[in-house]
Amino acid sequence: MVCLGNICRSPMADGLLLHKIKERKLALSVDSAGTANYHIGSAPDQRMIKTAAAHGTPIDFLRARQFNKHDFKNFDLILVMDESNYNDVVRLAATEDEKRKVEFLLNYLQPGTNAKVPDPYYGTQQDFEAVYHLLDRATDALILKLTHEQ
Ligand code: 4NP
Repeated sequence: MVCLGNICRSPMADGLLLHKIKERKLALSVDSAGTANYHIGSAPDQRMIKTAAAHGTPIDFLRARQFNKHDFKNFDLILVMDESNYNDVVRLAATEDEKRKVEFLLNYLQPGTNAKVPDPYYGTQQDFEAVYHLLDRATDALILKLTHEQ
């Protein structure tokens, strides 16, 4: 799961997916990263931690890191939150196969739209709440697709 800072959207997506993987005992692994280096080593944004906890999904243990070219080798799917993340990640791909691993997360909910998960960083508590629900639905759709493929 990739966003810009790795402190709001992608850790929330990571935490939700991790929670669902454990609940369903699926053989999947998940991680998250940011395209930027601003927050390396930081815990998620307090507002995202609070929203997540209120819905029973812990994310406080996650720490931000920056996306790097080795992630193309270590992961089968690289799911981005918006078009700017998409462009930044694809720029680091060494081959067409690596490029094909990059997808918009929301395409699992709204196929072919390349819709974005809005960045809540400069927003209100309501924006964090909306991001939580969007990511909850998107990770449900993702799991459904991945488990049907297995
Ligand atoms: P995220 O949100 O990409 O969802 O983690 C942001 C976090 C920090 C910044 C921008 C977006 N920032 O500019 O510091």
